[in-house]
Amino acid sequence: MASNDNIAMTKNGANVGIIIGSQRIPRVGPQIATWVLNVLQEYQDSHSSTNQRAYALSLIDLNDHQLPLFDEPGIPAQISAPDGYAHEHTKAWSRRINSFDGFVFVTPQYNWGYPASLKNAIDYLFHEWKGKPALVVSYGGHGGGKAAAQLQGVLGGIGMKVVEKAPPLTFIDREQVGKAFRGEDLGLEGEAGRSLWVKEREDVGVAWEQFLGLLNK
Ligand SMILES: Cc1cc2nc3c(=O)[nH]c(=O)nc-3n(C[C@H](O)[C@H](O)[C@H](O)COP(=O)(O)O)c2cc1C
Repeated sequence: MASNDNIAMTKNGANVGIIIGSQRIPRVGPQIATWVLNVLQEYQDSHSSTNQRAYALSLIDLNDHQLPLFDEPGIPAQISAPDGYAHEHTKAWSRRINSFDGFVFVTPQYNWGYPASLKNAIDYLFHEWKGKPALVVSYGGHGGGKAAAQLQGVLGGIGMKVVEKAPPLTFIDREQVGKAFRGEDLGLEGEAGRSLWVKEREDVGVAWEQFLGLLNK
């Protein structure tokens, strides 16, 4: 299906959540997730034939929820409504995730995997994720491909419709690696940012087309 068709079919504002996968302080996760959001917003602006917003994009910061290590007495796969959970923090997380139609997971690579905080946030829920499309974008010194592959396996395991391609974002040089580790400004905004990750911008667009196709199924 052509991308314009996917946009046109995504009527009345599907809600897509862009999850910031890291929770450490400091971190660059919010900068990278914002870069992804801007790429997807530009995609919509350049592919949509009407002024109607085909989808709404929002950042989801795990730091806003401060989930403890998984502490629900029940198994989320057996709980179908927020009230079925024991704890308020789980009910709030369930309601938040329920309000979205699909997700982009922006994840760093930590020691060849994705962050424990992200796995914890995923494990808290089940039906809130199931059947919804998921796109993984990873980042790291080598692009974070190992984290992306592990995360894709888990998301497929909980019944999400996972986009096959997970575009990796590789820090451009040692200076950027150092800045990322220190949580400093990577210069991803504005015109300067547009000259970074040019090919990756295209790769995210291609993966996004697949995502929109899954959103419309
Ligand atoms: C605990 C830890 C483990 C890391 N392991 C890897 C790794 O396996 N591969 C890699 O490319 N970068 C690794 N890094 C570097 C991260 O890619 C980099 O610090 C990045 O900024 C992390 O994202 P964040 O700032 O959003 O937390 C690691 C960083 C941390 C904190």
